[in-house]
Amino acid sequence: MQLLDGKLTANKIKKQLKLEVEMLKEKYNRVPHLAIVLVGEVEASHIYVRNKIKACQFVGMDVTLIQKDNTITTQDLKTLIHNLNNDDNIDGIIVQLPLPKHIDEQQIINVINSNKDVDGFGIENKGKLFSGLPCLKSATPYGIIKLLEEYNIDCVGKNAVVVGRSNIVGKPMSIMLLDKHATVTICHSKTKNLQEITKQADILVVAIGRAKFITKDMVKQGAVVIDVGMNRDENGLCGDVDFEDVKEIVGYITPVPGGVGPLTITMLLNNTIEAFKSKFKEA
Ligand SMILES: NC(=O)c1ccc[n+]([C@@H]2O[C@H](COP(=O)([O-])OP(=O)(O)OC[C@H]3O[C@@H](n4cnc5c(N)ncnc54)[C@H](OP(=O)(O)O)[C@@H]3O)[C@@H](O)[C@H]2O)c1
Repeated sequence: MQLLDGKLTANKIKKQLKLEVEMLKEKYNRVPHLAIVLVGEVEASHIYVRNKIKACQFVGMDVTLIQKDNTITTQDLKTLIHNLNNDDNIDGIIVQLPLPKHIDEQQIINVINSNKDVDGFGIENKGKLFSGLPCLKSATPYGIIKLLEEYNIDCVGKNAVVVGRSNIVGKPMSIMLLDKHATVTICHSKTKNLQEITKQADILVVAIGRAKFITKDMVKQGAVVIDVGMNRDENGLCGDVDFEDVKEIVGYITPVPGGVGPLTITMLLNNTIEAFKSKFKEA
């Protein structure tokens, strides 16, 4: 079994991005600038945002955090995003999810100008992804593609099974694997005989949010297993795959933590740089 080291790969990409930011600064006399909108007091969101800010600072990008309390109205949040859309000094905008229950997340995300939608969650970028057009791609699946490339894992003609069909991971992941010429099956909570399907997977991506759900009886010998899950059990942070159970039979696997997570943030930085460059028609 070989570990797919997301941390190592992310650090390598971040060093390249740092150099790119330095070059852009020399050329344009300013650096890409990410605005992060954080609503409410969800502890995990504050941790994710702190890590995003640190990563921006590492590559030398500007980052502005805008914090609002969870009583903010949908209208006020929309106005805030409109202002960021119209601010020439801001190249990328993300709204940290989840938002408070009274706010419709997709409605808010769709307000972000598609050229600044560096999470790639808005319908315009998703539609472009689906249509095979250049776009800002959802950071988590994009990071997984980068990880597969880093380890020279060829997807052409492979059976790829994606478990989970969320808008931010499962669905865009399936399209990106399809673009890599894999034969893709998408599974979800209503899938019948899940184990029979996952056992056929040469590449198995699991994004369901169920601790240690995938066990060795569900995995093909030698498979490439990508564990997106971030769960907490009695022993701390763990993935959707039972790592200890499957590690002897898989070919490659991402650890949790240190697998997909670090790449998600890195691809967010990458997207912000892409958004900056496309403004200057450099992309
Ligand atoms: N590492 C990272 O950077 C990163 C980024 C994003 C998410 N995550 C983690 O990835 C996990 C998934 O996140 P998400 O946002 O994609 O989750 P989500 O929106 O909750 O979607 C979960 C998906 O899993 C499916 N599912 C749930 N239980 C299942 C089961 N028993 N069998 C088959 N499918 C099942 C659901 O099916 P239905 O559609 O039928 O309900 C749904 O499509 C979470 O642990 C999250 O924390 C990690």
